[in-house]
Amino acid sequence: MTPEDADRGGSDPEHLESNDDTAENDDSSFETVVARIGERVDPDDDEREALREAATALIERAESAATERCPEADVLQVGSTARDTWISGDRDIDIFVRFPPDLERDTLEEYGLEVGHETLPDGHEEYAEHPYVKGIFDGFDIDVVPCFRLESATDIRSAVDRTPFHTQYLNERLDDNLAAEVRVTKQFAKGIGVYGSDLRTQGFSGYLTELLVCEYGGFRPLLEAASDWKPPIWLDPEGHERASETASPPRTPEVENGDPPFDDPLVVIDPTDPERNVAAVCSVENVARFQHYARKMLESPSLSLFEPHEPAPLEDDALEAHLTNRATTPVAVRFEAPDLVEDQLYPQLRKSLEGVTDKLDAYGFDVFRATTFADETAVIFAELAVTERPALERHDGPPVHVRNHAEGFFEAYADDPDAYGPFIEDDRYVTEREREFTTALEFLESDRLLDVGLGAHVETALEDEYDVLVGEEIIGLLAEFDRELARYYDPRP
Ligand code: UTP
Ligand code: MN
Repeated sequence: MTPEDADRGGSDPEHLESNDDTAENDDSSFETVVARIGERVDPDDDEREALREAATALIERAESAATERCPEADVLQVGSTARDTWISGDRDIDIFVRFPPDLERDTLEEYGLEVGHETLPDGHEEYAEHPYVKGIFDGFDIDVVPCFRLESATDIRSAVDRTPFHTQYLNERLDDNLAAEVRVTKQFAKGIGVYGSDLRTQGFSGYLTELLVCEYGGFRPLLEAASDWKPPIWLDPEGHERASETASPPRTPEVENGDPPFDDPLVVIDPTDPERNVAAVCSVENVARFQHYARKMLESPSLSLFEPHEPAPLEDDALEAHLTNRATTPVAVRFEAPDLVEDQLYPQLRKSLEGVTDKLDAYGFDVFRATTFADETAVIFAELAVTERPALERHDGPPVHVRNHAEGFFEAYADDPDAYGPFIEDDRYVTEREREFTTALEFLESDRLLDVGLGAHVETALEDEYDVLVGEEIIGLLAEFDRELARYYDPRP
């Protein structure tokens, strides 16, 4: 067992206790590990029955509420619980209410919410592309989502209209054996931290995982293929590529997201919709991460790969030791976290991080590594290789023989009392002028911070108020971010 294995997992010792000695005995064979994971993730008969009862009751309620309003409406269960690819303990049931396509969108939304509330009297409304109702029933998390019933997934008007086609497609292809392979694969993706198509994770959705397992024929063949992937990977299960030349209807911006030409590291053409890359949100890092752990699982199979890694919180003295060891300068811009859902917050934080680090680099405070995290407050964190720059900076002018520009440059700096020069180096004028910021702190505390590319709500938050922490002051982040900093100072694939 590698040291990495030794500190992975631990959140569920019951499942891991026999893992310590797996390297030396047969328990570590690939098949044994998969069988053990299967026992954990396969729902038992009681759990399946409870889910079936809940789903049946909800579908009946939703059907009567829907057909009362629109006789042609129908109700179906979608998602992993409709395909037997859900993992024991996961308790979400997705109920879709389909309305005929000639219904006005406003009416669809209105009926959808009414049906949702009748189905889930204690539910509340949430907003995705349309509003829908979410609630709890018998301990299950339920979504009741309205959509249009269309002839083909290429006619969709919003992303949810595609969902029933996914269920139909996969139900035709997944047998019990492949469904079991999907459950194991999902648990693996969860364990290595790449499961979820939300914009915080930027990983593999359930549907993508299922398509990959179908395409390669199981968990092991998928890992074997992924071990040798050379992105961009292009998978087209239904051979749509050739057909996609034919005219396709205009799309709304939401639907368009992910349309060709795809420049994603992993492209899986949606079998139900050739215009769509199912893996559009999957980041380059998560594809690489999947490859890394695929190889690892094949080389040294271990139960711990299926357990999400929860680092122990970082202590003050351990952080001080990292600061001394690394002798870099961490800086943190900390502000009140914008009140946004994660799908909006994280893209804005990442954009802001890029804006700030690009500018730090441009000012000469070489960014060594950087990250962003959020809870009550949000932080843009950068570790700098250079903290202080001299009072002056070199400023290269044009070649002297480019007369117009050269004369303009010379005149602009000739009378600047703070600049040295202009003088000539090679064929150019050069001046040494005063640097705008000699420390990263000065820049971060200045209004120039607000000129960098920031997420809209991050900009508003920064306009309001923020703190800058430098060097040892970042110990002050531990109270809120000890796990995030533990991850930062113990980076792993
Ligand atoms: P879920 O997020 O519940 O996924 O979306 P899932 O397939 O049921 O997987 P788990 O087991 O709960 O994690 C329900 C359905 O909505 C569609 C898919 O058809 C999915 O099966 N969907 C969801 C998408 O098309 N894209 C997404 O990003 C998310
Ligand atoms: Mn689901």
